[in-house]
Amino acid sequence: MEDHRIKRVVVLGGGTAGWMSASYLGKALGPDVSITVIEAPQVGRIGVGEATVPNLHKTFFDYLGFTEEEWMRECNASFKMGIKFTNWRTPGTGEATARALGQGEDSFYHLFGLLANSDNLPISHHWTHQKLTGQTDEPFDYACYREPPVMDLNLSPRYMDGTKWTNYAWHFDANKVADFLCRFAVEKQGAIHIQDKMTGAEVDERGFITCVKTETGRVIEGDLFIDCSGFRALLINGVMREPFLDMSDHLLNDSAVATAVQHDDEAEGVEPYTGAIAMSSGWTWKIPMLGRFGTGYVFSSRFQSRDDATLEFCKMWGLDPETQPLNQIKFRVGRNRRAWVRNCVSIGLASCFLEPLESTGIYFTYAALYQLAKHFPDKRFDPILQSRFNAEIETMFDDTRDFLQAHFSFAPRNDTAFWRACKDLELADDIKEKMAMYRAGLPVNMPITDETTYYGNFDAEFRNFWNNSNYYCIFAGLDHMPEHTLPILAARPDMVDRSQAVFEGIKAKQKELIATLPSTYEYLRKLHGKT
Ligand code: FDA
Repeated sequence: MEDHRIKRVVVLGGGTAGWMSASYLGKALGPDVSITVIEAPQVGRIGVGEATVPNLHKTFFDYLGFTEEEWMRECNASFKMGIKFTNWRTPGTGEATARALGQGEDSFYHLFGLLANSDNLPISHHWTHQKLTGQTDEPFDYACYREPPVMDLNLSPRYMDGTKWTNYAWHFDANKVADFLCRFAVEKQGAIHIQDKMTGAEVDERGFITCVKTETGRVIEGDLFIDCSGFRALLINGVMREPFLDMSDHLLNDSAVATAVQHDDEAEGVEPYTGAIAMSSGWTWKIPMLGRFGTGYVFSSRFQSRDDATLEFCKMWGLDPETQPLNQIKFRVGRNRRAWVRNCVSIGLASCFLEPLESTGIYFTYAALYQLAKHFPDKRFDPILQSRFNAEIETMFDDTRDFLQAHFSFAPRNDTAFWRACKDLELADDIKEKMAMYRAGLPVNMPITDETTYYGNFDAEFRNFWNNSNYYCIFAGLDHMPEHTLPILAARPDMVDRSQAVFEGIKAKQKELIATLPSTYEYLRKLHGKT
């Protein structure tokens, strides 16, 4: 019988995506398949990509056989219990702290995990009933989740003995992740690392890539080529000529200025969340790690020049733009029409990119690898494997694009040309339908699993990535409320009464956590062996 198995996989690019691909496929395909990574030392990695989502450990590192402690130590990782959105409702230029708003301040959290239910209805809907009938003034996040008061105090998602009490994700040093995975793939899995620059490729009469050629005259043959060459997308857009679908009609930001800022953790604590601070023409991320935080202003060059954006950004953090090392980045927004074409699969920035507002870049990489392993071809390249894979990537990307667009669309601020322009962009039909459900008081995209299994079942989560909890955190956080309370709640006061026990349970838990948890700083120092 003819052997159709793929034996040689060639990965072009040694950034986070390239080394994640080499190590994941090394594990998924086993030792009989050779994996070669080509990385041009003279072409740097993008050097950003530091915040993640909670399924990273289970779907990626756990799959490779690493404990959480092991890879956290290698990558200077810290914890992320959610995202804190600051100043998305009030006008003004970049300010690191929240401006005053009504009785409180202009900030809210986007938390992980699923909301509790009462009478089979998420408590978001009981809270909405209370809010719209004037029975509560408490913000959605503080009323419905245990985490916000803990996050305000910079406390840890783990007790000192390691016990984990909530779902969380991680912040890490992007370069350390790539280096760590490079060592693993080369030393433990036998991947071949070629440091050379690709200058061309050859294709056969069917348009399949047969080899890539390098500056020093190497010819590297393969059966399957993974394009991880970053925004250059040298194989998928270059050699395969697959069009990149520009989506700047959905999201206006196309640039970033990024840096790292030293931080006095002992005096100020380590925030266990990503910051997303609204600016005059975009927003700034703040990603705390031990000893420093990574930060970058993501802006639209249509509405602010690079120089002005850099000044606004540096002023906010008290940095001198003349002496501070700054990484100026220009990015494309959108995805390839098809992520996989013939024997070339694009992964990472070569495949698709959305601004990092919900930290989805690295998630897109391992989600694509998971799907590739599931749809892995042999040398016959059955087109159905390819088209099913491409459909999964398309849905994953477009769903997130729409969610991100809605953040800008429904943010109340309207004070600059950028924020006004965000409101003029057309939303896709799918998110319009979800918004109609939300406004009518219905739960949106309820997950089919419960909290205990949600992050343990990647397929279920992948299909329901943004669910009622996520939509509520953002829309209620932005003060964009449903128009109605669910009619059943007005008809059934007993349901409303029963939900009180859930709200009281959350309050009691908040108190207990605040009284017993260590600080994030303390926990991380111990984890990283600094005490
Ligand atoms: P990257 O550009 O890093 O690597 C490309 C590789 O290709 C390099 O090794 C280079 O040498 C190689 N190469 C290029 N040309 C070559 C040639 N001719 N021959 C050989 N090799 C060649 N994600 C996330 O999850 N959370 C986050 O917070 C963020 N934040 C963020 C902010 C901004 C501003 C951007 C632009 C992106 C993010 N991301 C992110 C996304 C994240 O940075 C990204 O997904 C990963 O770093 C993966 O990058 P790549 O490996 O695809 O490209």
